[in-house]
Amino acid sequence: MRPKVILNCAASADGKISLPNRKQLAISNNEDFERVHELRSECDAIIVGIGTILEDNPSLTVRNNTKAKPIRIILDTHCRIPTDSKVLRGENKTIVAVGKNHKEKNLGETEILECGNKKIDLTQLLSILGERGVKKILVEGGETVMWSFLKEKLFDEYNVFFSSIIIGGVKTPTIAGGNGFQNEKSILNLKLRSVKQIGNGILAKYNKKKN
Ligand SMILES: NC(=O)c1ccc[n+]([C@@H]2O[C@H](COP(=O)([O-])OP(=O)(O)OC[C@H]3O[C@@H](n4cnc5c(N)ncnc54)[C@H](OP(=O)(O)O)[C@@H]3O)[C@@H](O)[C@H]2O)c1
Repeated sequence: MRPKVILNCAASADGKISLPNRKQLAISNNEDFERVHELRSECDAIIVGIGTILEDNPSLTVRNNTKAKPIRIILDTHCRIPTDSKVLRGENKTIVAVGKNHKEKNLGETEILECGNKKIDLTQLLSILGERGVKKILVEGGETVMWSFLKEKLFDEYNVFFSSIIIGGVKTPTIAGGNGFQNEKSILNLKLRSVKQIGNGILAKYNKKKN
């Protein structure tokens, strides 16, 4: 059985997830930030794409909880990850998922997992992780990775914290990037599960709609 997959992101009220130059900004408020770290602590693994590593350089650890050590997984077909990335430091295990023709790089203790060709094969990756006992995965972006999980319907929950700010910009990263669904028939319908005000923002939780 594939692990449970929770997609989570923080967006402005106009659906943007960074500044127009792709640089990170504080979108979550403190309460939502706490919620995300709590959620990380309940998961066995966290997935992000290489774009997020290159732009934000996150450590993807759990703050205020040294016991929870979710595996950090980076989708990085060509092994572009800089060797000084924060995600490669610390005690928590990190897996860099790469494609067949990836660049050879010495990442020390970090596991390099071949999984796919032109991009990471998400179905295969989730199956390998499931076999290793991973039961719950948090996907934290960015826009291209979020799009892939949504498009391939490889998720169970989809959570967005909408902050009361507007960022704007035609090219500013949005919650779901990629090519988008090209016609009305192929659009993905979600089931709204709950809406909660968190300070000056809104947390909307959705489930995948069962057909
Ligand atoms: N507000 C938030 O919650 C939040 C969270 C995270 C990120 N962000 C923002 O998101 C932006 C980064 O988004 P991004 O789209 O550039 O990067 P991304 O989604 O983190 O990574 C995308 C890259 O991952 C690799 N990849 C490999 N297999 C893939 C697959 N099956 N599906 C999708 N991607 C795959 C591809 O690069 P290769 O072909 O080289 O492998 C792809 O270009 C930044 O501006 C960051 O600040 C915001």
